[in-house]
Amino acid sequence: MLAEAYQILVSGENRRQLGTFFTPPAIVRYMVDAVLAILRERPYYIVDPGAGVGAFTVSARQIWPTSTTISVDLNVVTLGLLAARVDSRVKGRSKKGHGPVELVPQDYLEWISRDWPKLEGPRLVLGNPPYTRHQQMTAGQKKRAKEAAGSLVTSGLAGLSAYFLAATINALRPADSLCLLLPGSWCETRYGRELRDWLWHSRRRRVEVDLFPSTVEVFPGTQVTAMILSVGPEQKSRQPFVARALDLTESRGRQSVVKKTEVTIDRGGPCPPSFARLTAIKSARTRAVNSLSLGSVATIRRGVATGANHFFFLSDAERRREGLPDKALRPALVKASHCPSDTLDLEAHEAIGAAGAPRWLLDMNGCDAAETDEDLKSYLSRGKALGVHNRHLALQRKFWHTVELVATPDIFLAPVGKGCHRVIRNEAGAVGSNNLYGIYLGPLAPWNSQQLAAWLRSEDGQLSLQNLSRQYQGGSSKLEPRSLRSLAVPVEYSV
Ligand SMILES: C[S@@+](CC[C@H](N)C(=O)[O-])C[C@H]1O[C@@H](n2cnc3c(N)ncnc32)[C@H](O)[C@@H]1O
Repeated sequence: MLAEAYQILVSGENRRQLGTFFTPPAIVRYMVDAVLAILRERPYYIVDPGAGVGAFTVSARQIWPTSTTISVDLNVVTLGLLAARVDSRVKGRSKKGHGPVELVPQDYLEWISRDWPKLEGPRLVLGNPPYTRHQQMTAGQKKRAKEAAGSLVTSGLAGLSAYFLAATINALRPADSLCLLLPGSWCETRYGRELRDWLWHSRRRRVEVDLFPSTVEVFPGTQVTAMILSVGPEQKSRQPFVARALDLTESRGRQSVVKKTEVTIDRGGPCPPSFARLTAIKSARTRAVNSLSLGSVATIRRGVATGANHFFFLSDAERRREGLPDKALRPALVKASHCPSDTLDLEAHEAIGAAGAPRWLLDMNGCDAAETDEDLKSYLSRGKALGVHNRHLALQRKFWHTVELVATPDIFLAPVGKGCHRVIRNEAGAVGSNNLYGIYLGPLAPWNSQQLAAWLRSEDGQLSLQNLSRQYQGGSSKLEPRSLRSLAVPVEYSV
């Protein structure tokens, strides 16, 4: 109730600055159970970093009543609400039979470097650190956070929760453990690389990576996927690395976390480039046996970056109205959704025109009519009047009106998709906009465009694309050209 009251009273904007989102009880229950299973002994201290109104503090008090709980939060308002929940009348003094609760109104990163080393005995860090994006951190905050994170975060793009994780890892003694609910981005981005490496190589600690699907909104309104990371105490022997795919379900008004898949991964090999698809690793490896990476036999590049698509891509009506010469225009595909079928042939290209969508690129490469053709001259001066010539990309070009020369690809692929990345064979000799990737088959490719497109559209192909893409909340996924180059495509695939 307190969490809800706070969320209603304090605007989203103000909560975002401190990354204040409260953890649903089902996730708190799941995390407490997960950490109970990996601990070897009762922790003497449980630290709740960014305690809010105390979702974890209150649970920890129930599970480990004789331990000391330390709730650290910068926000004195939520800390005050938390004080009302737990009996902590005198800081540090225990109630009969209960360990004390300490409420610490301080920056966790400062607290962990100054006060944490004084605590003796096994310690557990359990909680949901602030989800604060790097853009919302001040320069001073970033500087202090970097000091606390040391070599575990070297990129400037990390959010505050990654620094909380790094500072906690740096402060772990062998008997200590952690269990944190985090935004999933560190699992696959560059800024999380050192953290992943540390976890991969800490083979004497049990590590559990629990991933929620992108459709589960744990951090409301943030477009971020959520994950739970648990790290156990150091043992004498090698410990497992476990990855799970979770889901958050609701039945009769009660939410629960369910485990969908679980894999135990051998940490003998090198650290995988991403932790986001660990549960799919086995099938991906099997498929890779008889395959080639797409980038080894094909070129992949974005379509034409014009800097002003509304000016450079024209519909049939615009083309007619402007009377532009044929030699200044090339057939084009601006968006995958414009194409009515799996193959962009002349008929499909005509259909795009009939639907009123743009399908011609103003391409002045090799066209010498800029000074002689009156219609073209007047279209270009209209572009100038609109300021197209002063746009960033136009200023980079030799002539503002002459876009980069891009060859026509064999296949178009939509880099962003919801459950599916569209694959379109290009039989119309069209050039794509930069909303699309073009795949150009090289002479050594073992497939023709029809075979490759058929595999890319198949269940296996789409699953492999999903495995390489970044997932966003709401179910959309995005592929980068670099990941697409590493796509393992079976050598033999017949249609
Ligand atoms: C995601 S909320 C989690 C709240 C609570 N633990 C829960 O799970 O419901 C993060 C909390 O971190 C706090 N916070 C933000 N920056 C902090 C900092 N530098 N040090 C300590 N707490 C901070 C915010 O005030 C907020 O209460």
